[in-house]
Amino acid sequence: MTDTPFTPRVFSGIQPSGNLTLGNYLGAVRRFVEMQNSGIETIYCMVDLHAITVWQDPTDLRRHTRELAAAYLACGLDPQKSILFNQSQVPAHAQLGWVLNCVTRLGWMNRMTQFKDKAGKNAEKMSLGLYAYPSLMAADILAYKATHIPVGEDQKQHVELTRDIAAKFNHDFKVDFFPEPEPIIDGAGTRVMSLRDGTKKMSKSDPSDLSRINMMDDADTIAKKIRKAKTDPEPLPDNLDDLADRPEARNLINIYAGISGQTPADVITQVAGQQFGQFKPLLADLAVAHLSPIADEMRRLMGDVSEIDRILGDGANRAAEIAEPILAEAYDIVGFVRSR
Ligand code: TYM
Repeated sequence: MTDTPFTPRVFSGIQPSGNLTLGNYLGAVRRFVEMQNSGIETIYCMVDLHAITVWQDPTDLRRHTRELAAAYLACGLDPQKSILFNQSQVPAHAQLGWVLNCVTRLGWMNRMTQFKDKAGKNAEKMSLGLYAYPSLMAADILAYKATHIPVGEDQKQHVELTRDIAAKFNHDFKVDFFPEPEPIIDGAGTRVMSLRDGTKKMSKSDPSDLSRINMMDDADTIAKKIRKAKTDPEPLPDNLDDLADRPEARNLINIYAGISGQTPADVITQVAGQQFGQFKPLLADLAVAHLSPIADEMRRLMGDVSEIDRILGDGANRAAEIAEPILAEAYDIVGFVRSR
């Protein structure tokens, strides 16, 4: 991590918009746990305001929010060490979000590749919220003056936009108020690809459930999905360069490395020469051994929703204690009269 004049503080979030996938786990949650245990202040959010930028059934949204909280806990986030909460319980996100909407330039938003990917040819039919979403994400981060943002590769552009928004706010108002946060993207799992198409990201919104491993999948389902994962007929090579044009094979090696905590280079030397008929069962065993206890713990935690809600409420109180004074100061800088 590089030095910044601001106190180091980690913030990140995940949308409760469906099943948590292995991509979310390797790209994000696992890193959240590492950062929590490195002693820095860590704040992790379930970003329900972001989720509603596309339609969410209200009952599903509530369940997915609690399931995501259960996943955070089951993966090792500890409410004594990290602040865990859902975004809508802390109004400062939306309030600062509006201020930042007025700082952010339309030209910047038009460059956001994720909006283009999600909207496709239907941009006219998308919500205004989906378009404005990266500026709300900037507010999530800046409401805590967070400095380090662990995310997967696909969120890099949004964190870079946050830096631009912070810099423009500081410049426009002649202050040194917001930090320019750094994306923290490393390890083998920063871009886990679909099991059906190695050129597409593994995503909770992919119509094919076979394309992803969900954190709540049982052992048989995990093994089946890995068995059916698309591959090619060649054996595995002994070096990563030879995987350059084999996206599916590279993805499975990366997944193995991500789960086992090794580098892809280490993994490839161990499995060199194997056919997928040999390698896939190894990967399935590894994935099941690692993920099944997490899924069991998630199910156990989901048995006591009131305890999850208590943790989220407590986390929201602690988050608000940090964000409210920062928001108040931002309001003062902007020139709002605050008289109550
Ligand atoms: P979301 O909910 O799409 O994804 C949550 C996190 O998981 C990572 N991720 C992946 N990593 C590796 N491989 C994949 N296939 C994969 N799919 C998802 C994402 O990069 C992300 O880190 N806008 C964010 C949520 C957000 C946020 C924030 C993040 C809102 N406010 C403030 C950081 C800070 C999003 O939609 O992530």
